[in-house]
Amino acid sequence: LYGKQRCNSIGLNLADPQVLEQVKQSLNKLAHKQYQSFPLVNGKTCTGQTNSVNAPHDNCHIVGEVIYADKTHVSDAFDAAETAFCDWRLRAVRERADCLLKAADLMEQQRMELVNLCMREGGRTIKDALAEVREAVDFCRYYAVGALKLFEHPAVLPGPTGEVNTLKYYGRGVFVCISPWNFPIAIFTGQIAAALVAGNTVIAKPAERSALTAMACIRILHQAGIPESVLHFLPGKSSEIGQHLLEDSRVAGVAFTGSIDTAKYINRQLSDHPMIVPLIAETGGQNVLIADTSAHKEQLVQDAVFSAFNSAGQRCSALRVLFVPEETAELVKQMLIGAMQELRLGNPDDVTTDVAAVITQQAMHQLGKYVRKMRADNCEIYQLPLASQADELHSGNFFPPTLIEISELRQLRSEVFGPVLHMVRYQSGDLDAVIDSINASGYGLTLGIHSRIQGTIKKICQQTRVGNVYVNRNMIGAVVGVQPFGGMGLSGTGPKAGGPDYLRRFSVEQAVSDNV
Ligand code: SER
Repeated sequence: LYGKQRCNSIGLNLADPQVLEQVKQSLNKLAHKQYQSFPLVNGKTCTGQTNSVNAPHDNCHIVGEVIYADKTHVSDAFDAAETAFCDWRLRAVRERADCLLKAADLMEQQRMELVNLCMREGGRTIKDALAEVREAVDFCRYYAVGALKLFEHPAVLPGPTGEVNTLKYYGRGVFVCISPWNFPIAIFTGQIAAALVAGNTVIAKPAERSALTAMACIRILHQAGIPESVLHFLPGKSSEIGQHLLEDSRVAGVAFTGSIDTAKYINRQLSDHPMIVPLIAETGGQNVLIADTSAHKEQLVQDAVFSAFNSAGQRCSALRVLFVPEETAELVKQMLIGAMQELRLGNPDDVTTDVAAVITQQAMHQLGKYVRKMRADNCEIYQLPLASQADELHSGNFFPPTLIEISELRQLRSEVFGPVLHMVRYQSGDLDAVIDSINASGYGLTLGIHSRIQGTIKKICQQTRVGNVYVNRNMIGAVVGVQPFGGMGLSGTGPKAGGPDYLRRFSVEQAVSDNV
């Protein structure tokens, strides 16, 4: 792969009936498999009280058991990771990169196991789960190739006085990687892969709700040659181990994806360290799509519905607010409702499912509470009737796709993480006010534009402070190396995952001036 034209993982084509049949057969074989996850420190399995994990689409279905890490595991992991760092930082970059390439191949070989876990534990649909494995594979290959380019040979700099000047990158030390449940394979693997290949040792803390899937990824990374002393795994409750992970004086950096509130908490904890500890945070968004009167309405509606309701809206990139000009608003609204009526809620292993369950009962209840509040505030609301869907939905955390009309973006105080789309009507002449309201929200992750006027597209791109802009298409599913992903402001620190600058933030630089 090194030195060749890079290409992304091709995944599986579910439109091919033979492929689909094979996928179904593999998943059937795994349907009742029970999984386990436990702290893995220096390759040693830790014991403790077990906690069962149920499936979002069927609360009676137990997927497996998790043993949570405690503070002793945290300090043991730091001891081991700190010791291993001295050797790992000096390993040949190619050796570290080769492990990632091997991990990518293993992920492709063990794809169905990962898909099964991600569907049953995380409620991801087959299509989403397959896409996630592809993304994780892409991260491994992209960072392997990127590390070689960046780190293998010191950069030779000008030496006008006869000295030889070089610049070299090294790992920082022990990196703590804290990842979310909504991308239990891709984000989890991406953070760790980047940290490892840059020469850091890693303590990985998955989200409580995705520890089983994360464990499978850890197994693969170890199988691929990452030493057990270099990569440690601590599933557990943030409330029990979070603070211990952050206050240890040996933390050299933190990669975090999750909510802005947690990112700020981590930032505050890190500010107490004697050293300045970098935080790479990728947080949420109040993502907007602006349509103007020139927008192609069928395409707009299709892209808006996909961006808002795919993955049950549980993506940080998901569309939350659609701005439509007054002139076309009523028509677009009716078309949106029509398209929503075509959505099919269902189990994740059914390829015809558009919207699967949300992650927990608590998340489902919070979404319900939010919609009731908006109704009480006299917002017009359309909700897909659950009664029109299959009976089996009663035992899972299904929340119906919902459209809420609001009068301005300011009405949204925080990110609504689920299948809820808001719509705002605006006067065509007020585009500047729309842009101002987006910037005033403080969030800056994804932004969609549907327009056929180049001047409008250019103006919105230039004036909005957001990380990823999508024009006349949907606004989710950034592809590694193609659409580097990450926001600004309340949406994150950068650098973008799957982009050319990501690895540098995991490293330190050393310039050597040799007066030969
Ligand atoms: N990278 C994902 C997307 O683009 C979100 O984390 O949808």
